[in-house]
Amino acid sequence: MGPIDSHQVTDETETREQPPRDRGRTVHGEPANAGHRVLAPDDAEVEAYLEQALHAPPPQRVETEAAEQPDTVAVLDFGSQFAQLIARRVRELNVYSELLPHDTPMGELERRGVKAVILSGGPASVYDADAPRADPALWSGRIPVLGICYGLQLMAHELGGEVVPSAKREYGPATVSVTDADGLFAGIEREQPVWMSHGDSILRPPEGFRATAQTDSTPFAGLADPSRNLYGIQFHPEVVHTPIGRDVLRNFVVEIAGVRPNWTAANLVETTVAEIRERVGTGHVICALSGGVDSAVAATLVHRAIGDQLTCIYVDHGLMRKRESELLRVTFERDLGMKLVMVDARDRFLKRLAGVEDPEEKRRIIGDEFIRVFEEEAAKIGRIDFLTQGTLYPDVIESKTSETKTSQKIKTHHNVGGLPSDLRFKLIEPLRYLFKDEVRRVGLELGLPEAMVQRQPFPGPGLAIRIIGEVTAERLETLREADWIVIDEIKGAGLYRSLWQSFAILTPVRSVGVMGDGRTYANVVAVRAVTSDDGMTADWARLPYEVLAKISSRIVNEVPGVNRVVYDISSKPPATIEWE
Ligand code: XMP
Repeated sequence: MGPIDSHQVTDETETREQPPRDRGRTVHGEPANAGHRVLAPDDAEVEAYLEQALHAPPPQRVETEAAEQPDTVAVLDFGSQFAQLIARRVRELNVYSELLPHDTPMGELERRGVKAVILSGGPASVYDADAPRADPALWSGRIPVLGICYGLQLMAHELGGEVVPSAKREYGPATVSVTDADGLFAGIEREQPVWMSHGDSILRPPEGFRATAQTDSTPFAGLADPSRNLYGIQFHPEVVHTPIGRDVLRNFVVEIAGVRPNWTAANLVETTVAEIRERVGTGHVICALSGGVDSAVAATLVHRAIGDQLTCIYVDHGLMRKRESELLRVTFERDLGMKLVMVDARDRFLKRLAGVEDPEEKRRIIGDEFIRVFEEEAAKIGRIDFLTQGTLYPDVIESKTSETKTSQKIKTHHNVGGLPSDLRFKLIEPLRYLFKDEVRRVGLELGLPEAMVQRQPFPGPGLAIRIIGEVTAERLETLREADWIVIDEIKGAGLYRSLWQSFAILTPVRSVGVMGDGRTYANVVAVRAVTSDDGMTADWARLPYEVLAKISSRIVNEVPGVNRVVYDISSKPPATIEWE
């Protein structure tokens, strides 16, 4: 583990839970994070504002036929928390992989050009009355199948083997011994650490299967029937605790199933661009840029396909970090030659935020003003046929509803009118098959600068929710300078990419200090740096003292009006990442 420890929040937090009186009141009488507070990954919030401003219809996710369908590995989801991770691991082999429901019919898999199938694990037992099952045609051998954990048990059970609740529940690290180094385990040393998590076990494999690996608690940690193209493993190859996981997956996908590893950023750009060109024809497309990586990559892909038929709108609300608007203009307008409408709305936002201290009120005002600005700008543009958004694959899998969650939440407090409500747009979501790391690779492939592509998430309401109390031009300036120093030092120490977020907060607290011969009475700046996988839980980063020392001394020396720096050592829960 590097200098930053990413401790997980443990169950201890729960057992230590105090009576509510010590925990503060919930925001507006609701649980924290509820209501219209948008927990948007990166820049989804700003995109949703444009959607609202245009009264865009719910996304209609039409399946477009790709010019050339990439070889596909389907991961059938039996409810494992790791199902998405399996698809990601396969994609790391440069093979396209999709997550599909466990009962996806064989016909559908064939229609999608699926070349191999992986059955995920899951919490069920094959003996549960409502145990999730797969289409029995899967066992025909027409497409190679790899069952993982529950997936293997299901395969064994359905094909006449015997599965029993195991005497000893196996959970955590184990050592697997490879007993048959062919096929799945080709090139892999005999003894290997793996990660196990299962209750049931296989007592007797189905006819035709042979054992390929064992552990202390089961002689059937791996099974294979190569004549029917069926394989299974009891351990989890997708987690980092199974170092040979990648090799096992590669053996299955590339060697056994013969899938071509042609899912690369370059190929992806090429096929997506061709698809967009065909779909848009002579139509006009609009996109909201937020400074976040998803909208930046989506816009660049669309621009490459249709050039000036795309107009990007960027609202400068004055709540961005230092040099961010500048980077956006240079990248999109100067370097990429895009049609970019940059709206300087700094005064409008400041005016509406004057005197406002309540965090949720700030969010509401910012969302509302954003939508007004977009409506005005969109009305000037004239004909618009498509809206492009940086929706990612995990959002598509999760939403499965007609509307994005973000836009639903914003809608609840949006009641400004503007454009005729019968306008109809279609949605272009060029990233809807991609995970975040793939979006970053595509961004780099398209020539976007690292500073934009590797950016940490930044909330839609920007610095306004990092200034505790009223937002003024002067306070924004103070925070921008302090924040710049934090980022600069974190980047200088090579820590930026290992942190989920790192930033400064301007508190309204003033304290006494001493500088030169005189006493000062100035503001306290807090520094926050967290590690996290998804922003839902987070831990404060154990930044090296030297980095903290440098940040602190630079802030008090370089930023007027600040004489004290503190470091936030709260995890989430019970604290949130942002202070407001
Ligand atoms: P919290 O503070 O709730 O934040 O722990 C979790 C993640 O969400 C981001 N965040 C927001 N993003 N609009 C956004 O677009 C918001 O109002 C907002 N509030 C929090 C936060 O930066 C973190 O990544």
